[in-house]
Amino acid sequence: MKTIIEPFKIKVTEPIRFTTEKERKKILEKAYYNVFQINSENVIIDLLTDSGTSAMSHHQWAAMLQADESYAGARSFFKLEKVVRDLTSMPHFFPTHQGRAAERILYGVLSRKKRYFISNTHFDTTRANIEYAGGTAIDIPCKEARDTQSDYPFKGNIDLEKLETLLKKYTTKVGSVIMTVTNNSGGGQPVSMDNIKQVRYLCDKYQTLLVIDCCRIAENAWFVKHKEPNYQKKSYYQIAQEMFRYADAAIMSAKKDGLVNMGGFLTLKDQKLAEECQNLLIITEGFTTYGGLSGRDMEALAVGLQEVFDKDYLQYRIRSTAYLGEHLDKLGIPVVKPFGGHAIYVDAKKFYNHIPSHQFPGQALVCDLYIKGGIRSVEIGSLMFGKSANGKFIPAQWELVRLAIPRRVYTQSHIEYIIEVFENIKKTKHQSKGYKIIYEPPFLRHFTCKLKQV
Ligand code: F0G
Repeated sequence: MKTIIEPFKIKVTEPIRFTTEKERKKILEKAYYNVFQINSENVIIDLLTDSGTSAMSHHQWAAMLQADESYAGARSFFKLEKVVRDLTSMPHFFPTHQGRAAERILYGVLSRKKRYFISNTHFDTTRANIEYAGGTAIDIPCKEARDTQSDYPFKGNIDLEKLETLLKKYTTKVGSVIMTVTNNSGGGQPVSMDNIKQVRYLCDKYQTLLVIDCCRIAENAWFVKHKEPNYQKKSYYQIAQEMFRYADAAIMSAKKDGLVNMGGFLTLKDQKLAEECQNLLIITEGFTTYGGLSGRDMEALAVGLQEVFDKDYLQYRIRSTAYLGEHLDKLGIPVVKPFGGHAIYVDAKKFYNHIPSHQFPGQALVCDLYIKGGIRSVEIGSLMFGKSANGKFIPAQWELVRLAIPRRVYTQSHIEYIIEVFENIKKTKHQSKGYKIIYEPPFLRHFTCKLKQV
């Protein structure tokens, strides 16, 4: 069948409030052209993130009613612990309120001696937590990732040659290698099992830890099964299990493939490291059997972590994301290829080639999508990752706009609407202008910075 149907029926609905273009222009101006500062009731289609925005199943809601909210030794904790252990085979498990809390704990411990962290690409909170704790984060995506138009199936891979060079150079100063699966900041591209195996080999050779940032590991498993030789017969769950076996630790923002609105965890093999992390967990998140979560959060996550590997769900998830990508591509909008699992990324540098990087072409597209269609998206380019050194602007590697698709939330007609908005934007794209920053904080500036049109 060519038609993708959502493998669920809708039982509860949330109304969408419609706004006019005129209203949206005023709203955006008041938000200083930063869409993080817009109230969600003023958004028609929210593609800001796929994080914490999933619709939960009735099995998850039902499980929440059975939660044990005890401070210590809650039944809900043991239920979740079993699900995570079966999946990851790691003996130590700590729930946290979201992914970055797990990052703060693990990288807080590992960065203490001013170490280096090497990744296919650190997500922004990962980098921020490492740098905040005194470490240095180095991104070495594979060479194929540089060309946003090539069809190479595993552009989320790390550059193995550069990895070996860096491991040799920094030896004991390496805190860990971090594989972000899928590679969110690099276009949501998957990582192959082969690449993970090679990384494991190098981590053994140079005696370094391998951490998997696994928040989209089910989506990654879909790509491994369908694009990598020898995995066709394995289930998505078995593929994820295998990937975890190569790691020493994993951090999960469960707000993605956990199919929950809040939650995360840290899971580890090493006893001594686990003890150090546990101390920080208790000081900053909560006691070991709840971390930063309530019993009902843990119940919902225990169910979500199993549901996400359902073959019909994953097929729908990956195909419906690709549907948006294919249609934008047909319209001549430059999109990153191949399409990742959770989002479509528009190459704004190519699309708005009249706007230079220092005037944030990605942010210009983000603003146009909001004005023309009430669509909220996010810039992943020089606004998020650009830096200045001695007054000189250093652009990010890419100028992308991410259209992240919340899980089980929007139907095909919502996607048709997005495609139509792009059709309209394309007609007037030459009139779009760039932006400049008039206020920025020291870390993660894209969340709170203020902008002005140039
Ligand atoms: N790692 C990756 C790869 C992520 O994508 C995120 C969050 C985190 C870690 C941090 O997790 O938000 O639960 O603290 N990504 C969201 C996004 C925010 O929109 O991509 P968190």
